[in-house]
This record gives sequence, C-alpha cells and structure tokens, in this order.
Amino acid sequence: MTEHIPQTMGQQFGRRSWAEPWKIKMVEPLRMNTREDRARAAAEAGYNTFLLRSEDVYIDLLTDSGTSAMSDRQWAGMMTGDEAYAGSRNFYNLENAIQTYYGYKHVVPTHQGRGAEHLISQAAIKPGQFVPGNMYFTTTRLHQEMAGGIFVDVIIDEAHDPTFLHPFKGNIDLDKVKALIDREGAGKIAYISLAGTVNMAGGQPVSMANVKALRSLCDQHGIKIYLDATRMVENALFIQEREEGYADTPIAAILHEFCGYTDGAWMSAKKDSLVNIGGWLAVNDWDLFEELRNMVVVFEGLHTYGGLAGRDMEAMAIGIVESVQDDHVRSRVGQVRYLGELLTDWGIPIVQPVGGHAIFLDAKGFYPHLQQTAFPAQTLAAELYLDSGIRSMERGIVSAGRNPKTGDHYYPKLELTRLTIPRRVYTQAHMDVVAESVKAVYDGREQARGLQMVYEPRYLRFFQARFERL
Ligand SMILES: Cc1ncc(COP(=O)(O)O)c(C=O)c1O
Repeated sequence: MTEHIPQTMGQQFGRRSWAEPWKIKMVEPLRMNTREDRARAAAEAGYNTFLLRSEDVYIDLLTDSGTSAMSDRQWAGMMTGDEAYAGSRNFYNLENAIQTYYGYKHVVPTHQGRGAEHLISQAAIKPGQFVPGNMYFTTTRLHQEMAGGIFVDVIIDEAHDPTFLHPFKGNIDLDKVKALIDREGAGKIAYISLAGTVNMAGGQPVSMANVKALRSLCDQHGIKIYLDATRMVENALFIQEREEGYADTPIAAILHEFCGYTDGAWMSAKKDSLVNIGGWLAVNDWDLFEELRNMVVVFEGLHTYGGLAGRDMEAMAIGIVESVQDDHVRSRVGQVRYLGELLTDWGIPIVQPVGGHAIFLDAKGFYPHLQQTAFPAQTLAAELYLDSGIRSMERGIVSAGRNPKTGDHYYPKLELTRLTIPRRVYTQAHMDVVAESVKAVYDGREQARGLQMVYEPRYLRFFQARFERL
C-alpha cells in the first residue's frame, strides 16, 4: 500500500502555494439562506443578479469593482481627508502617486471610471470617427458611441475562442488596425482604445511587445493611444510571468514602461487601486488636459476633487502604492488561478487561460441546447445563485446590447458568466465552496430551459433588465 502524503493545493498543481501578504483584523459576517429564500429573491429580482439585494447573497462575485478590502493604512488615510472644496492636499498626493507609478504628466480626478470615459470620449472623438479597441467594454463603448464614435474591434481573433491557449489573448491585431487606416485614412481614427487586461475577453493581458509595435504603427500615422488602465497592474504580472526579459522586473517598473507607450489613460480605481470609489484620467498633452480640466468642472466637480471626497482621494493614493507591490499582485492573481485550476481539473468549461480578475464560465459549453436568445449566461448566473447564493454576472448577449443603428442584438461569440473575485476579501475555503456550487450546476445543466427578457432598459441593459424563466 502506498502511503498517502497530504499535499497543499499549490503542490497539487506542481508548485509552492502562494499566500496573502496580509492578515485579517476585522471581519464582516456573511448570511446563509435557504433555497426557498433564494427562489423568492431571484424571482423578485427578475433573474438579474444586479437586482438582488446584497443581503440575499452569500458569496458576492458580482464584480471586483469597489468591492475590495482596504488596508489599515488606507483607512488611516481616510481620517486625514482634507475636505476643502479647492486644492485639497489629498488631490496632490493622488496626483503624485499617478505621476510616479503610471507616469503621465497631467491628472484629472473623476468619481469613477465611466466619468473619465465620458470626458475623454467627448474631448477626443469627432462624430463619425472610428475608435478601434481590443474588444469592447460596456461603458467604454457606450461613451464612445454617445460622442458619435464608431467602435471597431481589433483584438486578435484568438480572443474570441474561449479554449484557445494564448499567453496574450488581449493583444491588438495590428493588421486589423492597418486595414482600417488603409480603408478610412488615419484622420478618421479618433484614437486607439487599448485596455489592459481585457475584461470581456476573460481578463486577458496585452504584451509589452504588442504595445510597442502599436506605438510605432501609430507614430507613423499620427494616431494617439489611450489606455484603459483599470486592471493594468494585473496585466503587468502576466508580462512578468510570460514575456521574455521581464521575469526580474518589478511590477511597478513594468507598469511604468507600458504606460510610457501610450498618450494617456483613464482608470476605474475601484479595481486595481483597492478603493471603494474613485477614478481618474491622465494625459501628457497640455491642450487636451486643458479641455478635460475644463469639462470636469461641468460634469464631475472641481479639477482638484472630480466628484470625490478628499478622504477618497487619499485612500486611492495609498491604494495605488499598495497595488503595485509584487507579492500583492501575485497573491491576488494566484487566488483567481487557484479557482480556475480547480474548475479546469473538474472538467468545467471556462475561458482559458485563466485571466487576472475573474473566472469566466463558458455558458455555451454548459448549455449547448440553449439558443443565444434564451440568454445562456444569464441563465447560468441565475442557476448558480439558486444553488448556493453565489452572485455572478452575465457577460454575453445581454451585456453586448444592441447595435445603435439597426436595433438588433449584438451576438457576441463569447457567452460568459463571470465569477469576479474582489481583492483581499474571500479565503481559499470560499473559493472551494464556489467550485463545488459550479460543479453542482454543471451536473444539472441538462435541466436548464433558459430565460426570456420581459423588461429592457435603453442603455446598458444588463444592469436593470428583467427576465422570466422559460
Ligand atoms: C475595463 C473597464 N473599464 C471601465 C470600467 C468602468 O469603470 P466604473 O465602473 O468605475 O465606472 C470598468 C468597470 O467595470 C471596467 O472593467
């Protein structure tokens, strides 16, 4: 008989375990509920996880946006909020952190990412111009369209295949950009909308080589590159792990170098920067900055607070410094990977390779018998909630919305349900519970009948749409 030697989960996957570089000093109790409670709550919420009350949720993986745990230092920073209307010292701390770690010259604070998207879209897009991007993001594309822009997806084709293994599935296909320039002319391109990592593709990264090549192409044609830096720190970890020459480069240096190939960035600080609210926009060009600084007072607040309290800017400034520490990023992405490896081991169809912030379940793989118009990913999110009280999010046909010209649904190739892991919030045991519930729903997949949409809002319908079971 061979002796059974217990192994840690890390060892089971052939490596040493990662561990969080912190310990817990305050906890928030979770509420367990029954299947009957959940059936009632799901029906009341129109089978849309955005419409559930958080009190009815057990493990909340709706989003990693604004849901992370702040550190004791960030909370201490909140107490040093300078709530002056103008010139708060916390703004200057934030400006300094952005200039130091992201490297841009001029900073405009905003209340969150979409506030920044609004400003950059209005300032940098002329009606009728094209905005090529590495896959769309919901709020980003909507702001570009509302400014009169026409979004063009220029991500590599592999990104649309959930099973294709590519180390940098967020990369831009330069041939697609060149073809657009040849067809329309560089003057018809507002800017390149580059995101690192790519949320809708499964949190997939962009390589340094790709952004460098993009920079040189854009320089030939006088085209600007603006970066959605929302999860760029996580992107930097993938460069460190996967790209030749970066294994010994700290995350902070990789981040700084990558941003250096772009002309500016916007940020939802609610993700990488470990805060519950906040965002910013930063550019190198003075004239564009002048325009943005002028617009921010109309839509957000004065240019030294942008819709934020001083304390929020302080928490963000400290969060930026914490977010670029190598051991933090490694454990954050390591936890996501842990869940992904468990599910992969159990034969559950998920987007591969596992990305930075979430596990994306492949709803078409769960429910091959459902048409996309029966909303497979929305169905899967509802089933997971009913099974265990875990809240996930649809990232498929509902999120894709409708073509503003034709009014038809967009039919994205990827029909995904996202299990998004907040930073520094849940434990490995929580990840095990999530995996067990996903497995139970997968085992019962043949019973799923799908949903029909009974209420559809005009904008960003995934937030408020209502459904009934078929
Ligand atoms: C990639 C990306 N860009 C932009 C945003 C918009 O940011 P916010 O939610 O702070 O408005 C998000 C948020 O989900 C995002 O994931």
